[in-house]
Amino acid sequence: MSESKIIRVAALVLSDSEGRVLTVRKQGTSRFMQPGGKPEPGENPAETALREVHEEVGLQLQPEQLIPMGEFSAPAANEPDHTVVCHNFRVTFDAVADDLLGQLRPAAEIAEIRWIPLEQLRPAEDVAPLLSEQVAPWLRAERSRAARQQLLGQLGAQLPVVAAPMAGGPSTPELVIAAAQAGALGFLAAGYRSPEQLAQQIQAVRQQTSLFGVNLFAPHPVPVDREEFTSYAEQLTDWAQRYESLTGTEEDDQVKLPEPREDDDAWAAKVQLLVENPPPVVSFTFGLAPAQDIRRLQQAGALTVQTVTSVDEALAATEAGVDGLIVQSHEAGGHSGTWSPQEWSPQMPSTQPGLFQLLSQVRAATDLPLWGAGGIGTAEQVKDLLHTGAEAAVVGTVLLRSDESGTQPAHQQALTQLHRETVVTTAFSGRPARALVNDFTERFTASAPLGFPAVHYLTSPMRQAAAAAGDPEGLNLWAGTGWRHARPGPAAEILRDLSGQLSL
Ligand SMILES: Cc1cc2nc3c(=O)[nH]c(=O)nc-3n(C[C@H](O)[C@H](O)[C@H](O)COP(=O)(O)O)c2cc1C
Repeated sequence: MSESKIIRVAALVLSDSEGRVLTVRKQGTSRFMQPGGKPEPGENPAETALREVHEEVGLQLQPEQLIPMGEFSAPAANEPDHTVVCHNFRVTFDAVADDLLGQLRPAAEIAEIRWIPLEQLRPAEDVAPLLSEQVAPWLRAERSRAARQQLLGQLGAQLPVVAAPMAGGPSTPELVIAAAQAGALGFLAAGYRSPEQLAQQIQAVRQQTSLFGVNLFAPHPVPVDREEFTSYAEQLTDWAQRYESLTGTEEDDQVKLPEPREDDDAWAAKVQLLVENPPPVVSFTFGLAPAQDIRRLQQAGALTVQTVTSVDEALAATEAGVDGLIVQSHEAGGHSGTWSPQEWSPQMPSTQPGLFQLLSQVRAATDLPLWGAGGIGTAEQVKDLLHTGAEAAVVGTVLLRSDESGTQPAHQQALTQLHRETVVTTAFSGRPARALVNDFTERFTASAPLGFPAVHYLTSPMRQAAAAAGDPEGLNLWAGTGWRHARPGPAAEILRDLSGQLSL
């Protein structure tokens, strides 16, 4: 959990994750209802709460002006000193009042809220008119903004763009730190890394910022068919030999085709690491994270975000209790987060909804905060995505050429070759992923089997050899459809430009 922060409040409304008012706290009163608790017969807690707030600060508020907040986590009834200990809360009225009074900024993640009577902030006669005249219109104007802010605001981000996790090298601690310096959330990519390597990366980021997330491959095995694997391995033999001449490898250290290797990317060890040392947010891809692991991470103090690629996945993830969704369309670079790769076919992307359509569909199906991912390359697209109901845009490909990314030079070079196109292929990893077309995808997309991570491990030595030889034709050149917008420069600048004039 992040460090405690004490903020002074004028009136505090706490509601549960479904927006039900649990308590209203203001000077001299203490109402508290346990989550799941029943109101007194005939009492509508939301209405009572609103009336009390109205009486206290003179604000005319409608129920929908209460912004849904986090989950109440600590017993606080009957405390004599008006101290409430809670976490993951968003605070509405106090944030407004503090801002206007030039007091404290609202905490992103509030560990402790200490009640200080209104009079101690300012003489009461100054505050009430200030609140009623200036705060109410401001609050109304902030409503749509606040709706987008539900997750990122809690995390302390200021920009409505998120630097995507990009496993295999592009995501570095430097990239995540650069994003944070711009006010954007960035993700470390735990995929393919050992828990020890992940721990080191987290430590490196923590030394510079507390605004970051960690992305995990959820266990969702796609076992390879043994015959298909062998047949594919044979097809690749010729290709593998290509690098013997390019890299000058000798007969006995030539690129070897391995046996099928299946694993779950050390899921349990990585979850344990994150439970013991929770980052502010953990995201999952490739499958729904087990509910008990979602719960453990939340209890440790992390927010959880699940990647979904369809309405059905969004509904299941909502049901499982995650805090937000990354809605990823087929336009996205790299692996699709689909939970059913076996339903994938090379023709499929053309029949899939684009990001904006998918996001609208998911928006209609769940109230969770949504981050949209897939093909975003311009500030105009980010703005449109927010208008479609997203809290933020998740961008990967546009950062691949940034100064802080660890993208292979040959990959970066290929991203400047504007004649290329993208294709969704299982050829490199046995999972559908969008990449720039190259010799490898042309030759193997049609015949590559499904099977992750076995096919990933099968092609891994060849891809390493291609990287060493600086040969883009043998590399997995992950890229989303917006890849022509990828440009060199500081990641912070790219993220700021994508945000345009928008902030959270
Ligand atoms: C090189 C690369 C690696 C990626 N690796 C991961 C990953 O490890 N985990 C994940 O959840 N998504 C991964 N993605 C997908 C991104 O998180 C994100 O959904 C995608 O980049 C958004 O689309 P865009 O690339 O068109 O911006 C990767 C994307 C790229 C381009």
